[in-house]
Amino acid sequence: MASELYDSFIADYYDESPVVSGRLQDVAFYRDAVREFGDPVLELGCGTGRITMALAEAGKRITGLDLSERMLERAVKKRAALRVEARERLHLMQGDMARFDLGEKFRLVIIPFRPFQHLLEVRQQVDCLDCARKHLAPGGRLILDVFQTDAERMHDPVHLREMLVTEYKTADGRLVRITERIVAFHRAEQRNDVEMIFSIRHPDGRQERLVFAWTLRYFFRYEIEHLLARGGFEVAAEYGNFDRTPIRDDSPEMIFVAGTRQAEGRQTTL
Ligand SMILES: C[S@@+](CC[C@H](N)C(=O)[O-])C[C@H]1O[C@@H](n2cnc3c(N)ncnc32)[C@H](O)[C@@H]1O
Repeated sequence: MASELYDSFIADYYDESPVVSGRLQDVAFYRDAVREFGDPVLELGCGTGRITMALAEAGKRITGLDLSERMLERAVKKRAALRVEARERLHLMQGDMARFDLGEKFRLVIIPFRPFQHLLEVRQQVDCLDCARKHLAPGGRLILDVFQTDAERMHDPVHLREMLVTEYKTADGRLVRITERIVAFHRAEQRNDVEMIFSIRHPDGRQERLVFAWTLRYFFRYEIEHLLARGGFEVAAEYGNFDRTPIRDDSPEMIFVAGTRQAEGRQTTL
């Protein structure tokens, strides 16, 4: 289960990894989206609050929900370092994005940086969209991003080999080398088992090898469109990257901005 996954060493390495800290374009994109669609905002799979903090700092009211206690602990620490006004605008809670009822409506629900790809079962995906729709105020928007699937990563054995992702030094002096490999392709289920391997040299010379092993669900463009329609949404815009370019063959992302088709009362069934 994804909660156990992130309740691991990964929470301590997440923010400082260049793979995460280098993602600035999505922060700007979501900041612009709140300017356009308004707050309050609900962020599903908020993790350590990378986007959450930025939106609170930009003057927006935001609630971040995540399954992982350890990721949320990080977010709580980061919130404590914000200016008092920003701190008061930001709420954090533990919960499953496929099963929550906050008794509150939001102008914007966002799912940034792939939490949706942790929902391996169609039932969870549909339930998540149902929950999101029920929490949207009239005229509100849902925005989610997933990566555009690279067909080679569905089957090419070259990806079974360990490849370097990044190397960096943490503020407290640990040298971190991250490599990645796909362990197994499950094309019929649109899933890959993936390992991110952290080779760490501590300042006292101690070496450590930690493995973040997880299963990711990949999606296709029209599949998400169908899922959104099934969840009572209508796609308002789609982008292939955070610069708002259209989805093309080589686009790295698939970003969906959707409004509700009906104000309320829709049920989805499997
Ligand atoms: C790649 S991180 C993204 C974090 C954050 N949105 C960001 O942009 O940095 C994925 C997050 O999704 C969370 N997650 C996975 N499955 C979840 C679920 N069912 N409900 C809530 N959060 C979930 C994980 O705990 C993790 O914090």
